[in-house]
Amino acid sequence: MCGGVGSGGDEKGPVGVGLIGFGTVGRGVVRILTEKGDLLRERLGAGLKLVKIADVDLERDRGIRVDPSLLTRDAREVIHDPRVDIVIELVGGIEPARSFILEALQVGKPVVTANKALLAEAGEEILNALEDTGQDLGFEASVGGGIPILKALREGLVANAVHGIYGIINGTANYVLTMMEKEGISFQEALSLAQAKGYAEADPTLDISGMDAAHKAAILATMAFGRYFKARDVYVEGIDRVDSKDILYAREFGYRVKLLAIIKGGSQVEIRVHPTMIPTDHSLAKVEGVYNAVYIEGDGVGSTMFYGRGAGEMPTASAVVADVVDIARDLLKGVSRRVPPFSYERLDRAVEVKPMEEVVTRYYMRFTAQDRPGVLSKISGILASRKISIESVIQKGRREEGTVPVVMMTHEARERDVRAALEEIDRLDVIGKKTVLIRVEDGRDW
Ligand code: HSE
Repeated sequence: MCGGVGSGGDEKGPVGVGLIGFGTVGRGVVRILTEKGDLLRERLGAGLKLVKIADVDLERDRGIRVDPSLLTRDAREVIHDPRVDIVIELVGGIEPARSFILEALQVGKPVVTANKALLAEAGEEILNALEDTGQDLGFEASVGGGIPILKALREGLVANAVHGIYGIINGTANYVLTMMEKEGISFQEALSLAQAKGYAEADPTLDISGMDAAHKAAILATMAFGRYFKARDVYVEGIDRVDSKDILYAREFGYRVKLLAIIKGGSQVEIRVHPTMIPTDHSLAKVEGVYNAVYIEGDGVGSTMFYGRGAGEMPTASAVVADVVDIARDLLKGVSRRVPPFSYERLDRAVEVKPMEEVVTRYYMRFTAQDRPGVLSKISGILASRKISIESVIQKGRREEGTVPVVMMTHEARERDVRAALEEIDRLDVIGKKTVLIRVEDGRDW
């Protein structure tokens, strides 16, 4: 029932929903709640009634008819409306979204949000408020857009210890890298194309820098390992320095470059987001354009992969409404938070983050070296002195300017040793430019 849902007889509901943030995803939520009311009522056994919508901009034509009496500029009118049982926050960013969520929880209302930045940058307060109030929080839309990946981790895979999660979880970056490879264009050209097609934000900084994927990786790691991880626990490199040359050389070695979120369990948890070479025949390498995919390796289930649209109005709204329905089901049965939002009843597991210097992986290195005898042996000598073993080398022809690209793939090596070796190599007078380093995941153990 709108305002204080309870099962007071055979006829249940409706459950009152209030929306703060009437942007693209908000519009999708309004469309689903109005256009799919019957389907949702049949599945839920009660109606979902949108009773209030707040946005600072009420003038903009959103191409959708909404009863004007639902609209307000004041988010607090949504939070405090007695008919609102569930508050949806789609403002994004840290403030004022943080205050809206905290206030809603404090007045006893469960919240649904898509706000990965808030959860990964300033989640402690939200977690404390959830603890204090016993309220529920849905955030399926914060990772992988329409892919129900958090529900899968929380429920479908609950019997599994997670060995690893490998995710393409930023559609903009994946589109840019796909276009660089398929069209042979530069990073800047591919980014402009993404913007022209409306795939990239006007300010794509969070996508390109890897931070958006890092926010999502922190949430996935929290769900998988039962400790609150923040964005600052994630090692991040973006795609802005990926050169189309490296994409071409990767192909020669049988790899594709993806912005990959890698979360690996063990005595310490690795959480990193960076351009990564993965074998062309791996299912993740085939995820193209704006699509997202998350590959999870569980100890019982083995490999699973979840694929779909990671952004956009309707896919993201689909995830938001799924959370609303989950919470409404609880409310209608008179229970709260039957399933803990972050999968664990308490996020108090003593798991450390593995320092990046300790990570062991394979590496692709592109040296810009003078083309004269002895150069290769100097480079390989330094690598050998740091116990870095070379798997294969190619030198790309002779150039008149005097430098040539020398490309190497290594066997597994420790990041600390690789960094030290490259520092030494880049100081050699036969090296013309800073060496390009891209980590390689061969997918052999996942
Ligand atoms: N900007 C994100 C992406 C979608 O490109 O995947 C929202 O998380």
